[in-house]
Amino acid sequence: MPLDEWKDRRVHTDNESVTRTAEIVRQTLYQRKYSIIAVVALMLTGSAVMLVQPLFFKMLFDTAIPEKNAELIWWLLAGMVATPLLAIGISYFQGHLRVRIGASVALALRKAVLNHLLHVRLDALDKIPKGDIVYRITRDGGKIGEMYIAQELLPVFSSSIVLAGALVMMFLLNVELAAVFCLALPATYLITRYLTRYSKEMDRRTHAQVKAGESFLYEVVNAFRTIRMFTGEDNAKSRWAGHMDRFAWLKMRGDALHDIMLTFPNEVINGVVLGVLLGFGAFQAMDGDVTIGSLVAIMAYAPRAYAALRSVLTTYTGTRLIDISVQSLNELFELPVEAGSGEVHEITADDKPPDIEFSGVHFKYERGYEVKDLSFTVKGGEFVGIVGPSGGGKTTIIDLLTRMQEPASGRISIDGTDILNVQLESLRSRVAVVPQDVFIWNASFADNIAYPETEYEMEEVERVVRASALHEFIQKQPDGYETVAGEDGTALSGGEKQRLAMARAFMRSSSDILVLDEATSALDALAEEKIRTAVEQARTGRTTIVIAHRLSTIRHADRILVIDEGRLVESGTPRELVDGGGIFARMYEAQALDFE
Ligand SMILES: Nc1ncnc2c1ncn2[C@@H]1O[C@H](COP(=O)(O)OP(=O)(O)OP(=O)(O)O)[C@@H](O)[C@H]1O
Ligand SMILES: [Mg+2]
Repeated sequence: MPLDEWKDRRVHTDNESVTRTAEIVRQTLYQRKYSIIAVVALMLTGSAVMLVQPLFFKMLFDTAIPEKNAELIWWLLAGMVATPLLAIGISYFQGHLRVRIGASVALALRKAVLNHLLHVRLDALDKIPKGDIVYRITRDGGKIGEMYIAQELLPVFSSSIVLAGALVMMFLLNVELAAVFCLALPATYLITRYLTRYSKEMDRRTHAQVKAGESFLYEVVNAFRTIRMFTGEDNAKSRWAGHMDRFAWLKMRGDALHDIMLTFPNEVINGVVLGVLLGFGAFQAMDGDVTIGSLVAIMAYAPRAYAALRSVLTTYTGTRLIDISVQSLNELFELPVEAGSGEVHEITADDKPPDIEFSGVHFKYERGYEVKDLSFTVKGGEFVGIVGPSGGGKTTIIDLLTRMQEPASGRISIDGTDILNVQLESLRSRVAVVPQDVFIWNASFADNIAYPETEYEMEEVERVVRASALHEFIQKQPDGYETVAGEDGTALSGGEKQRLAMARAFMRSSSDILVLDEATSALDALAEEKIRTAVEQARTGRTTIVIAHRLSTIRHADRILVIDEGRLVESGTPRELVDGGGIFARMYEAQALDFE
């Protein structure tokens, strides 16, 4: 469905989603306003303390030394030692507060993004590599909160105070010298501006490269087994090396740009200005226009003012660069959410197993596969088998029924209610699916089976596990039901995964539609027979749809639907279809074994 149409149907009206990231940052900063006030107060105090020390220098040279006032020297000494210590202490506390503020912004962003993604349409999500999503949530969230807010934006308060304060003090001490110093400011500003423009492009490219690298790494980590199986080590190594080379090149250029265009000229300016200031100051001192004390104090203020200026300019740069990350998160926030605006009904299971009806359903994947004018009904309590060639659209039908995908036209209804008007959660909780691709969490067997419930009765888990012919297997595990199943179930056999998925579906006692999508394809005939009995029991009070290639799985079905190229091509009882001599009959013949 085009995005425009989408917007009308969304419940979460994200019209302002473009500024969603900024909005979350603002909200979080507002919640942290007292911490921010404390930071600013500490910065004010710290800056004031920083600005006092050079005055002690002046007093030392202009008063204490000429007057040979030992007592005053002692006092000044104490002051000169105490001020930096105090300034460091204050800076430690405000730094700590800044880090906490920054972290809370990152946390809020990371929470909000995941919350949003949990409701985003699957087809939209499928287009973004998973590693990319992980990168955006963790790194971009961190860059905005932990880096930008904490290390760049908040320090700008104290830097500006120090800069302004130091300049004022310098002008008060000697207008000419202060004016000489000010000549350095525009040059530094221009250098930074120039550099920012270039580094933005560099940053964008580095950002894209790091993201691509991490996405690839994410794939590699998931493919460790496949890589070994196909001896793809060299392929992985060279692709990874390619990513790293590109990254190293970008980093080298970025660093060089930074060093040559920012650090180096600025240090030159700093050094030259200090030299000019001192030389010019010496002439002035000779003429008696400035005291030695004032000159020393100015020489102490100058590097502070310069460092503060650099810090203000870093914020300026950071503010321009951060929108790469902001945009990156906004792109996720802009992904369309699943829920439709027509979701008025909650449909909860009642005593009667529900009727399911597809009427004139059209659907098309972007890549071209189409479901065309699909109409069929499954009566409440019926057991319907769906068969058909691989890629014919069987799983797609289940995705349509559970609204993982939405039809372009036509209507899918449960007990007469169009599922587009049904709250997603209530729809999906009615359907217990044993999917073709089983996902296993890196959690205990018990938690995996009871998923998503975290509190459950162990007896119930054991009951469904027995029904799924998995009990014996779990008994043999070192910690029984508490054994960790292992990430993505790589430590389980195909059939074990299927049986676990079966148990998970049986756990959903409130679901009155049971769907098995190739759920027993990996099982031996004996285990399958056992599960068939369990399904037979589970069928009571439920409408059951079983997709299978192996026809023995559905030989007891009330009715069979044959799906090919997105169309319903045959339907009837197994007997009728065999006698009819169509696709089903041919599949039946092909599967009838003959050992003679
Ligand atoms: N997310 C997707 N995006 C684009 N095309 C898809 C997507 N999922 C499936 N398809 C395509 O849609 C067609 C039907 O797929 P589907 O999974 O429904 O087939 P199936 O009948 O379940 O096949 P099998 O028996 O092999 O499981 C296939 O050609 C497949 O390539
Ligand atoms: Mg399938």
